[in-house]
Amino acid sequence: MSEEGAQRENLVRCGKLLYERRLAHGSAGNLSVRLADGAILVTPTNSSLGSLEASRISKVSSAGDLLAGDPPSKEAFFHLAVYEERPAARAVVHLHSTYSVAVSCLCHTRTDDILPPLTAYHVMRVGKLPLLKYFRPGDRALAEAVRGAARDHRAMMLANHGPIVSGRTLDEAIHAYEELEETAKLFFILGERKTAPLSAEAVMEINAVFAS
Ligand code: 13P
Repeated sequence: MSEEGAQRENLVRCGKLLYERRLAHGSAGNLSVRLADGAILVTPTNSSLGSLEASRISKVSSAGDLLAGDPPSKEAFFHLAVYEERPAARAVVHLHSTYSVAVSCLCHTRTDDILPPLTAYHVMRVGKLPLLKYFRPGDRALAEAVRGAARDHRAMMLANHGPIVSGRTLDEAIHAYEELEETAKLFFILGERKTAPLSAEAVMEINAVFAS
């Protein structure tokens, strides 16, 4: 099978998995992968991730033109911005999963990293999580904000909306997304209790040993 055919099937498989795990609902969320020629495959606008069809997935050039498939996600432009800033990224996941969106709706006193380093896996898979201000879904200005954050972060949070997470493969991006959702869940379970996040030294050690 061609690279494109295999990645179309991969997007269908992963969309279903995310929907069944209840990380995606309704027609919310979008996924993309970058092909070797620089074009991306991205989920069509208003499609349910639970019932994607391989042949209808949108193929979009690096300049943003539709090459094949249904009309693309209205947020394809921020997927392209992530790929432009992160040459190693080959997949982007954006979902509206409950606990992450709940975190995105809180008042945050600092916006450079909005979740504490509660566990080593959060540090390894997600890293620092900056908060970007609210934009209407589909607002082109969002792409520039995403571009700025993507330079130094594999994951970011859109205020009152949800996370964007990138990875070298779709599986890697999904694993990081799931880790973020679990940390968000822990954050609410722990609530007002006095927590003991990892120390700055522990975070540095994890980053040194598991640098990617
Ligand atoms: P699309 O259906 O255009 O991909 O938009 C869904 C979404 O998640 C908006 O944030």
